[in-house]
Amino acid sequence: MKVQDLKHTGLKKWVEEAAALMGPDAVEVCDGTQTEYDRMIKIMIDAGLATPLNPEKRPNCYLFRSDPSDVARVEARTYIASTSKDNAGPTNNWIDPAELKKTMTGLYRGSMKGRTMYVIPFSMGPVGSNIAKIGVEITDSPYVVANMHIMARVGAKVLDVLGADGFYVPCFHSVGKPLAAGEKDNGTWPCAPLEHKYISHFPETREIWSYGSGYGGNALLGKKCLALRIASVLARDEGWLAEHMLILKITNPAGEVKYITGAFPSACGKTNLAMLVPALPGWKVETVGDDIAWMKFGDDGRLYAINPEAGFFGVAPGTNNESNRNAMETIKSNTIFTNVALTPDRDVWWEGIGYDAPGKLIDWNGNEWVQDKANKEQKPAAHPNSRFTGPAKQCPAIAHEWEDPRGVPISAFLFGGRRPKTIPLVNQAKSWIHGVFMGSIVGSEVTAAALDVKAGTIRRDPFAMLPFCGYHMGDYFRHWIDIGKKHDESKLPKIFFVNWFRKNDDGKFIWPGYGENSRVLAWIFDRCDGKGKSVDTPIGILPTPDALSRPDGVSDADMKELLAVDIEGWKKEIADVRQNHYPQFGNKLPGELSAELDAIEKRLNG
Ligand code: OXD
Ligand code: MN
Repeated sequence: MKVQDLKHTGLKKWVEEAAALMGPDAVEVCDGTQTEYDRMIKIMIDAGLATPLNPEKRPNCYLFRSDPSDVARVEARTYIASTSKDNAGPTNNWIDPAELKKTMTGLYRGSMKGRTMYVIPFSMGPVGSNIAKIGVEITDSPYVVANMHIMARVGAKVLDVLGADGFYVPCFHSVGKPLAAGEKDNGTWPCAPLEHKYISHFPETREIWSYGSGYGGNALLGKKCLALRIASVLARDEGWLAEHMLILKITNPAGEVKYITGAFPSACGKTNLAMLVPALPGWKVETVGDDIAWMKFGDDGRLYAINPEAGFFGVAPGTNNESNRNAMETIKSNTIFTNVALTPDRDVWWEGIGYDAPGKLIDWNGNEWVQDKANKEQKPAAHPNSRFTGPAKQCPAIAHEWEDPRGVPISAFLFGGRRPKTIPLVNQAKSWIHGVFMGSIVGSEVTAAALDVKAGTIRRDPFAMLPFCGYHMGDYFRHWIDIGKKHDESKLPKIFFVNWFRKNDDGKFIWPGYGENSRVLAWIFDRCDGKGKSVDTPIGILPTPDALSRPDGVSDADMKELLAVDIEGWKKEIADVRQNHYPQFGNKLPGELSAELDAIEKRLNG
């Protein structure tokens, strides 16, 4: 489709102005068809950027290797450019929006020379759902177009819903690598140097401007940028929730169904939990979403969630038939792999895939790599943040209602992170406000999902939204508290804090995790109906030691440790929140949360 055929006059004008600024050789409006997807892939094969995988093993799958400077989200280059700095708050980078637009306009000038500008109309959420939102991304990256085909609903059907004057979030993206006459990418991943990368959000005008990176959340602007940072602002203004949460459907042996969402910091196993194969006989878990949930209240006063995405952008290392059989099945075909290793028979391999490297590989840098298990210093063959982009509809565990435009009614929220000590296996909040408190203090050992945070330390990541909240985190806490005040608490989801990552003194995990987590989900399921054996403690409602069935290899003593209230550890936790975490929110910290902190401390001392 041509730009002149666009019916939405605002959109047409915006595209024309962008083209005049960025100077592409051609402009194309994406139609979202398979033919278009195949054409994007062909362009990238010809440019030496895509390697077709073995069609016998991975039909219609391709491998990409990005630039070593462009392998993850860049939080230090991610900006919330609200008109006042205070609206961005202490946890976001801020630049004055006028200044930032001036800088970025300079960068965008001529940035698409030698390339085609693609205009991607996309819907986050089932097309036409009243919970869904439309965005339009302008990009010079065919890699982005192909990934957006998988991760969102794109093309003509979205323009039909948008009509002549519908609301959309305009999203600029350029890899920031114009081509001189006759120049080709020639196998070099195009991007700009780190100091020129900008992932910018303008919350008041609902705009996204991204420059210089072609990778994941920096470039697929429907995901973190729209569905979390901008949507969190829309949700605050419109009274709903846009959260970094998986959505799962769980059915008990009696055939009763509940839907649960869970917020966990990046790379804490959200995708694995969303696709869990229960170890508990008779229980069934199905997937609605693995990363983001948008939730609105229905006429019955309950919260209904949709998954705004259409695919999974999952971390490859550690994914195997034990940890996530459903993901492994999902990515057998029609999948884009980025920064994993290539085997001699043109299949993919990564650390933790479940078997040894079959011979001489090509690693994510494009170099030959032979596994040397004796060498603990050996650099990994796949980048720790290497990814698969796979269609959600290919997941064997996908729930039939995953695209229901009305969403699914949520019974429980989970919060969690990687916490080797102190935090018990599961802990139910005593009230909504106690649950909001739990969400506000989420912390996790840092992993590789972001480029610029130090691995191994614990960072607080409230509601797992630290890198994704588009406004002041104190106001975000207030929004959550207000939801509890404005709605009937008995109909709101119950809130739980879970921790699969407890370690013993030898540094070994005490809880086996994965499918065994179904034992914890079963208790949560029952608690939503007021059942399940429990004990009221100073930190929350815990299962009695016999309330959860025990997996093999977990002793009574382990179980006791997993479900103990570590009074001294919690006192330290509370002190850390009081001294280091809460003060950063200043007078925007809701009084209800400091009161909750005082109350828990009092109970711990009592
Ligand atoms: C992700 C993330 O990629 O949270 O989902 O970093
Ligand atoms: Mn995520």
